[in-house]
Amino acid sequence: MNIIEMINVRKSFKGILLLNHVNAFFQQGKIYGITGSNGSGKSVLFKLICRFINPDEGEIRIHPDYFSKGSDFPSNFGILIDRPGYMAGLTGFENLKRWAEIQHQITDRDIRETMQLVGLDPAATQKMKSYSLGMKQKIALAQAIMENQKVLILDEPFNALDADSVKNIRKLLLRFKQEGKTILMTSHNQEDIDLLCDHVYQIRNQTLELLASTSAISEAKSEFK
Ligand SMILES: Nc1ncnc2c1ncn2[C@@H]1O[C@H](COP(=O)(O)OP(=O)(O)O)[C@@H](O)[C@H]1O
Ligand SMILES: [Mg+2]
Repeated sequence: MNIIEMINVRKSFKGILLLNHVNAFFQQGKIYGITGSNGSGKSVLFKLICRFINPDEGEIRIHPDYFSKGSDFPSNFGILIDRPGYMAGLTGFENLKRWAEIQHQITDRDIRETMQLVGLDPAATQKMKSYSLGMKQKIALAQAIMENQKVLILDEPFNALDADSVKNIRKLLLRFKQEGKTILMTSHNQEDIDLLCDHVYQIRNQTLELLASTSAISEAKSEFK
């Protein structure tokens, strides 16, 4: 089942073409890797998919089950693109709780469990202003996954993480895949991509090219709308 379909998408900023003729289908239960050099448009691609920005041309279709009624934005998406703005004077738990209060879907216990999953101590009294980069990254990851979203859009999820944390998060993402979640991720580390991804795309010459697949993707075709 296709969750996200990109049909002939084009995006430029101030007349400078960034992405052109982007065609891709993202299917449920797979992990997709997006690679490409700095500034090639990986984060922009994710922002397009999340509808934070609009394409100049073409269409990005999201499976109707992934919208809440009356919403223009995909629900069921856990998103880590830019690290969320946080309250420096609050603890990690308190910050996550504030974000959780927007949706009112999860309990304090869910937040604590998520913190443990990403390797943070939920009882820590340390304020976020003294968090290391890696700890902030874990908070951003926790925020993206804490509501048990079915689709995860993770831009550089392993940034600033130490080796053990990378292993832990890799395991977590593979577990999520087994649970049927769909994951789109970018990484500069080829090992992350090789270990995790079913399909790998590269942004090159302003378009998205399929680099490698472990299952048939060329047979995929538009399934909805
Ligand atoms: N809102 C914006 N306005 C103008 N230019 C932008 C905007 N967002 C991204 N860009 C430009 O698009 C290019 C690709 O950015 P990005 O997707 O962040 O690259 P990366 O592949 O490193 O994630 C960069 O040159 C960036 O400056
Ligand atoms: Mg980026």
